Amino acid sequence: MKRFEGRTAVITGGASGLGLAMARRFAREGVQLVLADVQADALERTAAEFAAAGTPVLAVRCDVSRAEEVERLRDEAVARFGAVHSLCNNAGVAPGGLAWESTVADWEWCLGVNVYGVIHGLRSFVPLMLSQDDEAHIVNTASVAGLLSPPGMGIYCVSKHAVVTLTECLHHDLAGRSDKVRASVLCPAYVPTGIHDSERNRPEELRNAAREKSEEELAREAALRHAVQSGRISAEQVADTVFEAVREERFYILTHQKIKGAIETRMMDILLERTPTDTSRPRK
Ligand SMILES: NC(=O)c1ccc[n+]([C@@H]2O[C@H](COP(=O)([O-])OP(=O)(O)OC[C@H]3O[C@@H](n4cnc5c(N)ncnc54)[C@H](O)[C@@H]3O)[C@@H](O)[C@H]2O)c1
Repeated sequence: MKRFEGRTAVITGGASGLGLAMARRFAREGVQLVLADVQADALERTAAEFAAAGTPVLAVRCDVSRAEEVERLRDEAVARFGAVHSLCNNAGVAPGGLAWESTVADWEWCLGVNVYGVIHGLRSFVPLMLSQDDEAHIVNTASVAGLLSPPGMGIYCVSKHAVVTLTECLHHDLAGRSDKVRASVLCPAYVPTGIHDSERNRPEELRNAAREKSEEELAREAALRHAVQSGRISAEQVADTVFEAVREERFYILTHQKIKGAIETRMMDILLERTPTDTSRPRK
């Protein structure tokens, strides 16, 4: 995309973390914002921040795992701003755990937000973007967990691998139909945000029955919190990289260069038909 001033961006999970940082970065370019999030208080605070700064903003409480809510988000965005030029399918949650111990509710919650959220975003907004006959760009937030398979993160990795391949397929599908609508996939490693605390937005009907957590689970949660909080690249830096990638129409957005060694190891494991390397362990 080359023009940003006066254009409209829809950002899911826009009330905090990476989504909020992307919203601030787009706003600096004069972009009008549609912020969608399930967490009402954070959404309200964020919308007030942009309104006070003079950025045209529409805040929509929306659970991206629900098709009808994402369709309503599109309709409200069009009613307010007339068109949508950027869509950041960014809302996400991150349950951990061993694949066979995770509950059906864990799977449904994570795949509902991380995978169906993106699917609903594409189904709702891509036809609109194609019909506008104007520049448009979709950024799907995956993760390096979409390119690696570390232990204890089965559900999250399944969801993010799905987002990577879905976005690659989207790229090819768009290429045959439009030279104006593009897509990118964002694959960050750890960034200090609220992602380790995503249970805060878990719907009541998908919560697990209360029980004592095992020491292993507590240790895994503590390790995730520590890894997220000590991430060296900030949400603002990720947002800058995303903005540049949209402007330069780059597909893969890898924000943490050091992780590429682990990605290469996994790729080579596949090509050489080796037993998978645990790339989360320090190399000897
Ligand atoms: N922070 C990291 O280390 C990291 C690394 C790689 C990828 N990611 C991905 O980045 C994205 C943004 O996460 P973040 O790190 O900013 O975490 P965050 O928790 O700060 O932000 C996520 C946002 O998504 C919203 N959300 C959750 N469920 C929702 C739903 N059903 N519908 C709409 N909104 C919902 C939350 O309310 C929150 O505002 C996620 O997709 C996450 O998987 C994060």
